[in-house]
Parts: sequence; C-alpha cells; structure tokens
Amino acid sequence: VKANIPSALEEESDLLEYLAQQKSLVDGRLDQFLPSADTYPEIIHEAMRYSVFAGGKRVRPILVLACGEALEGDPERLLYLASAVEMIHTYSLIHDDLPAMDDDDYRRGHLTAHKKFGEAVAILAGNALLTRAVETLTQIPGPSQDHSTKLKVIRQICEAVGTINGMLAGQVMDCVSQGKPFSGDQLEQIHAAKTGALITACISTSALLSGASQNDYDRLCAFGKDVGLVFQIVDDILDIEASMEESGKTAGKDDQSCKATYPRMYGLERSRKMAKELTDQAIQEVEFLGSKGARLKQLSRYIQSRRS
Ligand code: IPE
Ligand code: IPE
Ligand code: MG
Ligand code: MG
Ligand code: MG
Repeated sequence: VKANIPSALEEESDLLEYLAQQKSLVDGRLDQFLPSADTYPEIIHEAMRYSVFAGGKRVRPILVLACGEALEGDPERLLYLASAVEMIHTYSLIHDDLPAMDDDDYRRGHLTAHKKFGEAVAILAGNALLTRAVETLTQIPGPSQDHSTKLKVIRQICEAVGTINGMLAGQVMDCVSQGKPFSGDQLEQIHAAKTGALITACISTSALLSGASQNDYDRLCAFGKDVGLVFQIVDDILDIEASMEESGKTAGKDDQSCKATYPRMYGLERSRKMAKELTDQAIQEVEFLGSKGARLKQLSRYIQSRRS
C-alpha cells in the first residue's frame, strides 16, 4: 500500500516536470502565433517577443490546460486559448512596469520592455500583444456549430481584462489607491480585479471550451476565483520576501510606492494564513473532479507556496 502513495518529494518532482513540459508546449505555440522578429516593422515584433520569451512561469496557460485536461477537452483548441491568455498577461506586465505606472526596471530577470526599447515601443508592444491575443482566440479551430462557444470565450476574456471588475479596473484602483488609506474590502476588490479576474477567466473559458456542465462550470469558477486572489496575495508577500534572483523583479517596490497590499493591511503571517485558507477552500471546490482534479489541486498548492 505504501508504495502507491507518492512521497512529498516525488510529488514535487512530478509537478516540476509537469510545469516544465506544459511550459515548453505553450512556448512552442507562442512562437508560432506571434509574428517573427524579422517581420516589418521589426522593432515591435522584437519587443513583443522579447517580453514574452524573457521568462515567466506560464501559470495562466498551464491552468487553462490543466482545467481542460480534467474535463477531457480538446488539447489543440486549448492551446490557442492558453497562448492568448499569456499574450494578454505579458501585455499587462509591460504596461504595469511603465514609468507612469509602477516604474520598474526589471521583469522576468531582464530589463523591462521600456528600458530596452523605449516607452513608445513598449506601449505599442503591449497593445499589439492584446490585439494579437484576440486574433488568436478567433482562430481557435473547431466546427461552425461551436462558434457561439468561441464567441462566449472571447467575450469572457475581454470582460476579464476590462474596466468593470476586470484587470483594467483593478489597475486603475491600484493606481488611485496608492498612498491612501484602504479597507479590507477595497483591498480584496483591487486584487480580485487586477489579478484574479484573468486567472478566473483562464478556468472559466477552459471549462466552456471543454464543454463543462453548468454545475461543474460554477464550481470551477469558484476555484478560479479563490486561486486568483491567492495569486496576488502571494505576489504581495513575495514583493517583501523574495530576492531579485527569485522573482526576477526589484524587491520591496510595494512598500516604497505605498501600495495597497495584504501584508500592509494584515502583516505577513496573517496574509500567509489567508492564502493557505483560500487554497484549502479552492481544493475543496474541485473535490467533485475526483482523481481528474489532481493537477488543479497541485497547481493551487504551488500558487500558494511558490517562491518566484
Ligand atoms: C506577475 O505575474 C504579475 C501579477 C499579476 C501578480 P506572474 O507571477 O505570473 O509573472 P510571470 O508571468 O511568471 O513573469
Ligand atoms: C500586477 O500587480 C497586476 C497586473 C495586472 C500586471 P503588481 O504590480 O503587483 O505585479 P508585479 O509585482 O509588478 O509583477
Ligand atoms: Mg502594479
Ligand atoms: Mg507592478
Ligand atoms: Mg507585485
């Protein structure tokens, strides 16, 4: 009996292997879906590729694939969605780092896009990644009876990065709350929007594309929502705790800029506890998947305990 229960170490090396394998799958597709660096006007394509391939954990696309896997969705179609969300995420990072926003010099262990290519090209590369992502979503293969599902997917992704409780709403709230007092509810709202919404959409659109039942879809959305919030709580914790080598970005920026963060509101220890409790809750939400939910559970634990 004992031999069938993997040790914590075995489980960790299994997860690392899975992450590396999925990342290389996604990177291969991103390479296909992005214009080549020698396409005219070269500079913008170079900048888009520079930021996308500077590194990055690919957590969002991997969540898309893992959710689809649990529901036995078509991996080929899911790879279009996975690549598109990573393009959108990278666009958000390029703009988040601009001098007018968080003013950061390092991202993914390299100079930020505006440091490398100048602000104009960085802004345009961000815009270009967003539009390329939507273009990629329209190219998801499949029968024409499926067009309404595809439209729903595109709409949900656009809403998730939009100005009504989406990523842009969160980024606006993040900017205007800087240096001001804030409540726990406001903090949760900022984090759920700026980071949670896109992560939730990774799960919900993957479920849609994989033909989930309404019931399963609802439970997966609840999972996505919890994991999305945990992701940003942990990002706040790592801003304090992780070295530049671990995170690939300048440490201690949130305190310097007086950002609304979980550690600032609750302290490190309570923030960690909140992240753990939300993750426990998320894991409960996908119990219904049985053994098919193993990867999603593993990924949510990874998001909680990651060091980069
Ligand atoms: C960082 O995201 C920005 C947030 C939304 C918290 P990630 O931690 O996923 O960054 P990469 O993609 O691995 O660089
Ligand atoms: C970023 O939040 C959220 C985005 C939508 C990009 P942060 O500003 O905390 O992300 P990092 O720490 O710069 O990666
Ligand atoms: Mg920011
Ligand atoms: Mg930032
Ligand atoms: Mg941060």
